Amino acid sequence: MRILEKLPQILEESQNNYERHFKSYEVEELTLQERIHLKDHAEYKNKIVQGDNLELMKHLLKEKIKINLIYIDPPFFSKSDYKVNIKKASDKIESIPVIEQFAYKDTWKEGMADYLKMLCTRLFYMKDLLSETGSIFVHLDRHSVHYVKVLMDEIFGQDHFINEIIWSYKSGGVSKRYFARKHDTVLFYSKSENYHFECLKEKSYNRGLKPYKFKGVTEYQDENGWYTLVSMKDVWHLDMVGRTSGERVNYATQKPEALLERILLACSSEGDICVDFFGGSGTLASVASKLKRKWIICDMGKIACMIAHKRMVLKGVAYDMCAIGNTEKVESFIDFTAEVADKGKLHISLDRYGYKNDNEIPASPKYQETVKALMEEDSLKLIEYWSVDMDYDGHEFKPSWISCQESKEVVTDILLDYLAQERIAIRVLDVFGIETFVNQNIIKEVE
Ligand SMILES: C[S@@+](CC[C@H](N)C(=O)[O-])C[C@H]1O[C@@H](n2cnc3c(N)ncnc32)[C@H](O)[C@@H]1O
Repeated sequence: MRILEKLPQILEESQNNYERHFKSYEVEELTLQERIHLKDHAEYKNKIVQGDNLELMKHLLKEKIKINLIYIDPPFFSKSDYKVNIKKASDKIESIPVIEQFAYKDTWKEGMADYLKMLCTRLFYMKDLLSETGSIFVHLDRHSVHYVKVLMDEIFGQDHFINEIIWSYKSGGVSKRYFARKHDTVLFYSKSENYHFECLKEKSYNRGLKPYKFKGVTEYQDENGWYTLVSMKDVWHLDMVGRTSGERVNYATQKPEALLERILLACSSEGDICVDFFGGSGTLASVASKLKRKWIICDMGKIACMIAHKRMVLKGVAYDMCAIGNTEKVESFIDFTAEVADKGKLHISLDRYGYKNDNEIPASPKYQETVKALMEEDSLKLIEYWSVDMDYDGHEFKPSWISCQESKEVVTDILLDYLAQERIAIRVLDVFGIETFVNQNIIKEVE
C-alpha cells in the first residue's frame, strides 16, 4: 500500500494508542538519580530524563503538567544510525584510540509507516500536554516533513499551522547530482488562536548599504552598512555547530543554540516550561536556562543523557537527573577508598572501574579489544563523570562535589571538607553513559 493511502490508518492507530492510555492509566514513575545544585527544594525542578519519551509524556499527563513550549528534533527518517566518537589518550596504544559508540537509530523496519506511527502517537500526547497559549516546533528535513505536515494539520488543525521555518546552513557534503541540500524545516503549530508570540526583529540592509532617510523610519549602521529592523522572516540563515564552535559537545546531530534561542524568545516567557522530548545533547536545556525558562529534556540514549548532563552541570543550573521505564542495565562497579585525613578532610580515591561481567562491555564487537586494552592500562580512563554526596541520606543523591572536566581526564583522587558525616555516596558515569552508584560508611582513621 502506498504511504499516502496509509496515512488515515496511521492517524487512527496513533489516536487509538493515545486514547487507550485513558482507559488503563498505566504510568511509570520517575526514578531520581541525581539532584544537581538544588539548594531550594521549593524551586521548580528542571529535568533530564533518560528513557522513552512516551513514558515521560504519560507521566507528565498524570501529573497534570502543562507545557508552554515544545521543541522536538526527532530522528528524520534518514535511514542511518548515529554514533558518538569516544577518544581516550593512551600511553600504550600508539594512535589515540577512537571508539565509535552507537548513539541512536534512525532505521525503521516497516519503513516510513513505522516512523510516522512512532511520531504521530507522540504528537497526540504532546498536543494534550500543551497549555492553551502554547506552541510546538517540529524540526525535520526533506525525508519526512511533507508527511508529518499532513498529520499535524489533522492533529493540531490547519488553522493552527503558523509557520514553516526554513533553517538554511552552509556546512555538510555536496553532490554533483543535485543542488546542495542545505536546509532543515521546522513546523510551527499553536494549540489555539490565543498563542503566545513575540515578534522578533532582524536586520534588513538598505540597497547600496546607504541611508534612505525616509521620514519616520529609524536606520542603524554597523560595519557592513546601513540597515533597518524588520519583522523576522521565516527563512533563518544560521551556522551549524562547527568543529571549532565553543558550544560543540561531540553529539552528531547537535543543533545550534541560536536556532533554539529564536524559538524560545518568540514563544515563551521567563518562568515558562519548555520541553524537548528528543533532547539529544541538551541544546534546549542550555538555551532555556540561559533565558530563565524552566525545562525538561528526555532522551532514550544513555550517552546523549550523559553528554547533556555534563553540559548542564558545567552551567551551574539546578535540575534533577532521572530515569523512566525499563532502561537496559549494565552491571558495573567502582572500587574506592574513603578515609578521614588530617584537618577535617576526607580523602577519596577511585581505585578501579569495571563491568561485573566481562562479556558486558557496552561497546560494539569491533571495539571490545580497544576497551579491554584501555581498561588494562588504567580502568579509570573510562570514567567520564563522577560526583560525591558527602552526607547521603539514603534516598536523594545530592552531590556536593562533581568532577566533570571537558576534554581533560577526570581527577580520581580528592580531599573534601569533612564535618563528621557518616555516610558518603558516589555516582559514576562512564564514557558510554553507564551509571554506577555506591554508598558507604566513612572509615575514620584519624580521630
Ligand atoms: C536529532 S537527535 C536530537 C539532537 C538535539 N536536538 C541536540 O541538539 O543535541 C534525536 C534524539 O532523539 C532521541 N530519541 C529517539 N527516539 C526517542 C524516544 N522514543 N524517546 C526519547 N528519545 C528518543 C535519540 O536518542 C536522539 O538523541
